[in-house]
Amino acid sequence: MKQQLTIALSKGRILEETLPLLAAADIVPAEDIFSSRKLIFDTNHAHIKLLVIRATDVPTYVEYGGADMGVSGKDVLLEHGGSGLYEPLDLEIACCKLMVAGMAGAKPVDGRMRVATKFVKVTRDYYARLGAQVDIIKLYGAMELAPIMGLADRIVDIVDTGNTLRANGLEAMEHIADISSRLVVGQPAMKMKYDLIQPILEKLTAAVVAKRGG
Ligand code: ATP
Ligand code: PRP
Repeated sequence: MKQQLTIALSKGRILEETLPLLAAADIVPAEDIFSSRKLIFDTNHAHIKLLVIRATDVPTYVEYGGADMGVSGKDVLLEHGGSGLYEPLDLEIACCKLMVAGMAGAKPVDGRMRVATKFVKVTRDYYARLGAQVDIIKLYGAMELAPIMGLADRIVDIVDTGNTLRANGLEAMEHIADISSRLVVGQPAMKMKYDLIQPILEKLTAAVVAKRGG
């Protein structure tokens, strides 16, 4: 029997941009992912299956071999730490920035700053690089609310258009990293399933380049 290959996809905003790239690599789900409650999908290839899971869980699945490869935001990968994963291709989708933000016009903070974020590791690493001691407050969403309510002086969050910050009276202050979604491959899979993975990687690379051109 042919080796099986499992690809973990982030549900949510990445998924819509991922499926056309997969289609360009001739991988098409056997049914409509968006109208199904399934978590695992057959494809047009008997040996390829798709998992559709929380964005933050993709690196974990791939690291531990629960999936052979996956699609994950660089923000999620930075937060995960990247162990056990190769990151062979920037898919150039879901592009945004990780930034420090605060109330518009806010003055520098005297003393120890409180920073609210769901990206605790990224935030810790960022301020450690600056040599600044900060208190990090873990939140799971709506970070923009934290400075408004006096919970924190700053937030570390995703910024794309800047609309969410503006709508809440905040502004971007410092750039931490440019973000896009990446193809990730588990280290054992890259070794054991290279013959299956390599042509997919080639087709995805061609699709990314073609999209860039058009
Ligand atoms: P989870 O469901 O695990 O909590 P999430 O709600 O952050 O994750 P999405 O909002 O679907 O998941 O975001 C998935 C990825 O899309 C993020 O990890 C990031 O890489 C990218 N992203 C998030 N917000 C934006 C945005 N406003 N514009 C472009 N890309 C974004
Ligand atoms: C993301 C992010 C910001 C917003 C930034 O939120 O957390 O709030 O997008 O995009 P903008 O600069 O274009 O306004 P998302 O819409 O994914 O909601 P969530 O984080 O609550 O899931």
